[in-house]
Amino acid sequence: MTLDLFEGLEESALPAMQPLAAGAVLLRGFALAQGAQLLAGVEAVLAQAPLRHLITPGGFRMSVAMSNCGALGWVSDLSGYRYDASDPDSGRPWPPMPAAFRELAAAAARAGGFEGFAPDACLINRYEAGTRLSLHQDRDEGNYDWPIVSVSLGLPAVFLFGGPKRSDKAQRVPLTHGDVVVWGGASRLHYHGVLPVKEGEHPLTGACRINLTFRKAR
Ligand code: SIN
Ligand code: FE2
Repeated sequence: MTLDLFEGLEESALPAMQPLAAGAVLLRGFALAQGAQLLAGVEAVLAQAPLRHLITPGGFRMSVAMSNCGALGWVSDLSGYRYDASDPDSGRPWPPMPAAFRELAAAAARAGGFEGFAPDACLINRYEAGTRLSLHQDRDEGNYDWPIVSVSLGLPAVFLFGGPKRSDKAQRVPLTHGDVVVWGGASRLHYHGVLPVKEGEHPLTGACRINLTFRKAR
Protein backbone atom coordinates (compact mmCIF):
# COMPACT_ATOMS: atom_id res chain seq x y z
CA MET A 1 0.00 0.00 0.00
CA THR A 2 1.23 3.49 -0.77
CA LEU A 3 0.56 6.71 1.09
CA ASP A 4 -1.98 7.82 -1.54
CA LEU A 5 -4.20 8.72 1.34
CA PHE A 6 -2.07 11.78 2.08
CA GLU A 7 -1.40 12.81 -1.51
CA GLY A 8 -2.50 16.35 -2.24
CA LEU A 9 -2.95 17.19 1.43
CA GLU A 10 -1.17 20.16 2.92
CA GLU A 11 1.37 19.29 5.58
CA SER A 12 -0.94 20.84 8.19
CA ALA A 13 -3.57 18.26 7.35
CA LEU A 14 -1.29 15.37 8.24
CA PRO A 15 -1.96 13.70 11.57
CA ALA A 16 -0.94 16.11 14.35
CA MET A 17 -0.43 13.33 16.84
CA GLN A 18 3.01 11.77 16.82
CA PRO A 19 3.68 8.81 19.10
CA LEU A 20 7.05 9.11 20.91
CA ALA A 21 6.90 5.94 23.02
CA ALA A 22 4.26 3.78 24.72
CA GLY A 23 2.12 6.30 26.63
CA ALA A 24 3.86 9.33 25.12
CA VAL A 25 2.66 11.57 22.30
CA LEU A 26 3.54 14.87 20.73
CA LEU A 27 0.45 16.92 19.89
CA ARG A 28 1.70 19.37 17.27
CA GLY A 29 0.09 22.80 17.59
CA PHE A 30 -2.47 21.60 20.12
CA ALA A 31 -2.24 24.85 22.13
CA LEU A 32 -1.69 27.17 19.17
CA ALA A 33 -5.15 28.78 19.28
CA GLN A 34 -4.86 29.42 23.04
CA GLY A 35 -1.25 30.65 23.00
CA ALA A 36 -1.96 34.32 23.61
CA GLN A 37 -4.54 33.55 26.29
CA LEU A 38 -2.16 31.18 28.07
CA LEU A 39 0.60 33.79 28.00
CA ALA A 40 -1.75 36.40 29.47
CA GLY A 41 -2.44 33.88 32.25
CA VAL A 42 1.29 33.38 32.77
CA GLU A 43 1.79 37.13 33.10
CA ALA A 44 -0.98 37.38 35.70
CA VAL A 45 0.50 34.49 37.71
CA LEU A 46 4.03 35.93 37.56
CA ALA A 47 2.79 39.30 38.86
CA GLN A 48 1.80 37.42 42.05
CA ALA A 49 4.60 34.84 42.14
CA PRO A 50 7.63 36.17 40.23
CA LEU A 51 10.07 33.92 38.40
CA ARG A 52 13.12 32.88 40.38
CA HIS A 53 16.17 30.67 39.95
CA LEU A 54 15.86 27.79 42.40
CA ILE A 55 18.85 26.20 44.09
CA THR A 56 19.30 22.45 43.60
CA PRO A 57 19.89 20.16 46.61
CA GLY A 58 23.52 20.05 45.42
CA GLY A 59 23.84 23.83 45.73
CA PHE A 60 23.63 24.82 42.06
CA ARG A 61 21.47 27.67 40.79
CA MET A 62 19.12 26.41 38.07
CA SER A 63 19.44 28.31 34.78
CA VAL A 64 15.71 27.86 34.05
CA ALA A 65 13.68 30.48 35.95
CA MET A 66 10.55 29.02 37.59
CA SER A 67 7.26 29.80 39.24
CA ASN A 68 4.01 27.90 39.80
CA CYS A 69 0.26 28.15 39.90
CA GLY A 70 -2.32 25.77 41.30
CA ALA A 71 -2.84 24.20 44.72
CA LEU A 72 0.76 22.96 44.77
CA GLY A 73 4.02 24.27 43.39
CA TRP A 74 7.26 22.43 42.67
CA VAL A 75 10.22 23.88 44.55
CA SER A 76 13.84 23.02 45.19
CA ASP A 77 16.36 24.13 47.79
CA LEU A 78 19.29 22.68 49.69
CA SER A 79 16.91 20.37 51.59
CA GLY A 80 15.58 18.73 48.41
CA TYR A 81 12.82 18.79 45.80
CA ARG A 82 9.18 18.92 46.90
CA TYR A 83 5.70 20.23 46.27
CA ASP A 84 4.64 23.08 48.51
CA ALA A 85 1.22 24.73 48.89
CA SER A 86 2.87 28.11 49.39
CA ASP A 87 5.46 30.17 47.60
CA PRO A 88 8.59 30.09 49.78
CA ASP A 89 9.53 33.60 48.59
CA SER A 90 6.30 35.24 49.79
CA GLY A 91 4.81 32.70 52.20
CA ARG A 92 1.51 33.04 50.32
CA PRO A 93 -0.38 30.28 48.49
CA TRP A 94 0.55 29.93 44.82
CA PRO A 95 -1.82 31.83 42.49
CA PRO A 96 -4.80 29.71 41.40
CA MET A 97 -4.48 27.81 38.14
CA PRO A 98 -6.41 29.73 35.45
CA ALA A 99 -9.40 27.79 34.08
CA ALA A 100 -7.93 27.96 30.55
CA PHE A 101 -4.79 26.17 31.82
CA ARG A 102 -6.79 23.36 33.46
CA GLU A 103 -9.02 22.91 30.44
CA LEU A 104 -6.16 22.78 27.98
CA ALA A 105 -4.22 20.30 30.12
CA ALA A 106 -7.27 18.03 30.48
CA ALA A 107 -8.01 18.19 26.74
CA ALA A 108 -4.39 17.38 25.84
CA ALA A 109 -4.28 14.48 28.30
CA ARG A 110 -7.54 13.15 26.82
CA ALA A 111 -6.07 13.39 23.31
CA GLY A 112 -3.07 11.44 24.60
CA GLY A 113 -5.35 8.71 25.98
CA PHE A 114 -5.66 9.86 29.61
CA GLU A 115 -9.27 10.76 30.37
CA GLY A 116 -10.06 12.69 33.58
CA PHE A 117 -6.75 14.49 34.17
CA ALA A 118 -7.23 17.20 36.83
CA PRO A 119 -3.82 18.78 37.51
CA ASP A 120 -3.19 20.36 40.91
CA ALA A 121 0.21 21.79 39.96
CA CYS A 122 1.47 23.85 37.03
CA LEU A 123 5.18 24.62 36.90
CA ILE A 124 6.09 27.63 34.76
CA ASN A 125 9.57 27.42 33.23
CA ARG A 126 11.27 30.31 31.47
CA TYR A 127 14.24 29.63 29.20
CA GLU A 128 16.37 32.47 27.92
CA ALA A 129 18.91 31.93 25.13
CA GLY A 130 21.51 29.41 26.26
CA THR A 131 19.31 27.97 29.01
CA ARG A 132 18.97 24.20 29.19
CA LEU A 133 17.38 21.60 31.43
CA SER A 134 19.44 18.51 32.01
CA LEU A 135 18.00 14.99 31.77
CA HIS A 136 15.77 14.16 34.73
CA GLN A 137 12.68 12.20 35.74
CA ASP A 138 9.53 13.81 37.13
CA ARG A 139 9.15 11.71 40.26
CA ASP A 140 8.27 14.05 43.13
CA GLU A 141 4.55 13.38 42.65
CA GLY A 142 2.59 11.24 45.12
CA ASN A 143 1.87 8.58 42.51
CA TYR A 144 2.51 8.05 38.83
CA ASP A 145 -1.04 7.24 37.76
CA TRP A 146 -1.46 10.48 35.83
CA PRO A 147 0.52 11.80 32.89
CA ILE A 148 2.72 14.86 32.61
CA VAL A 149 1.36 17.46 30.19
CA SER A 150 3.97 19.88 28.86
CA VAL A 151 3.02 22.96 26.80
CA SER A 152 5.63 24.89 24.78
CA LEU A 153 5.21 28.61 24.09
CA GLY A 154 7.46 31.17 22.42
CA LEU A 155 10.91 30.32 21.11
CA PRO A 156 11.50 26.80 19.78
CA ALA A 157 13.60 24.23 21.59
CA VAL A 158 14.81 20.67 21.21
CA PHE A 159 13.19 18.37 23.76
CA LEU A 160 15.11 15.25 24.71
CA PHE A 161 12.90 12.26 25.39
CA GLY A 162 14.77 9.25 26.66
CA GLY A 163 13.85 6.03 28.40
CA PRO A 164 13.58 4.68 31.94
CA LYS A 165 17.36 4.81 32.43
CA ARG A 166 19.48 7.96 32.26
CA SER A 167 21.81 6.20 29.83
CA ASP A 168 19.00 5.29 27.40
CA LYS A 169 19.34 7.03 24.06
CA ALA A 170 17.13 10.12 23.93
CA GLN A 171 15.05 11.16 20.92
CA ARG A 172 15.52 14.78 19.86
CA VAL A 173 12.07 16.29 19.44
CA PRO A 174 11.92 19.84 18.03
CA LEU A 175 9.16 21.76 19.82
CA THR A 176 7.66 25.03 18.66
CA HIS A 177 5.06 27.46 19.97
CA GLY A 178 1.79 25.63 20.68
CA ASP A 179 3.18 22.09 20.77
CA VAL A 180 2.13 19.84 23.65
CA VAL A 181 3.83 16.66 24.84
CA VAL A 182 1.94 14.17 27.02
CA TRP A 183 3.71 11.25 28.70
CA GLY A 184 2.26 8.79 31.15
CA GLY A 185 1.62 5.07 31.59
CA ALA A 186 4.65 3.07 30.48
CA SER A 187 6.72 6.22 29.86
CA ARG A 188 5.66 8.24 32.92
CA LEU A 189 9.14 8.01 34.46
CA HIS A 190 11.14 8.41 31.28
CA TYR A 191 14.13 10.75 31.42
CA HIS A 192 13.68 14.03 29.57
CA GLY A 193 15.35 17.41 29.21
CA VAL A 194 15.81 20.43 26.97
CA LEU A 195 18.89 21.38 24.90
CA PRO A 196 20.18 24.97 25.20
CA VAL A 197 17.61 27.32 23.69
CA LYS A 198 18.89 29.24 20.66
CA GLU A 199 18.76 33.00 20.50
CA GLY A 200 15.70 34.37 18.77
CA GLU A 201 12.69 36.60 18.93
CA HIS A 202 9.11 35.36 19.17
CA PRO A 203 6.21 37.75 18.53
CA LEU A 204 4.43 36.69 21.75
CA THR A 205 7.27 35.98 24.20
CA GLY A 206 10.21 38.00 22.87
CA ALA A 207 13.59 36.42 23.55
CA CYS A 208 12.43 33.45 25.60
CA ARG A 209 10.67 30.13 25.67
CA ILE A 210 7.94 29.47 28.23
CA ASN A 211 6.99 25.93 29.19
CA LEU A 212 4.00 24.95 31.29
CA THR A 213 4.24 21.55 32.95
CA PHE A 214 1.03 20.18 34.43
CA ARG A 215 1.09 17.45 37.05
CA LYS A 216 -1.19 15.73 39.50
CA ALA A 217 1.16 16.05 42.45
CA ARG A 218 -1.12 14.53 45.13
C1 SIN B 1 10.27 19.95 32.46
O1 SIN B 1 10.73 18.83 32.28
O2 SIN B 1 9.88 20.34 33.57
C2 SIN B 1 10.17 20.96 31.32
C3 SIN B 1 10.27 20.41 29.96
C4 SIN B 1 10.24 21.50 28.91
O3 SIN B 1 10.58 22.66 29.20
O4 SIN B 1 9.87 21.21 27.76
FE1 FE2 C 1 10.43 17.34 33.81
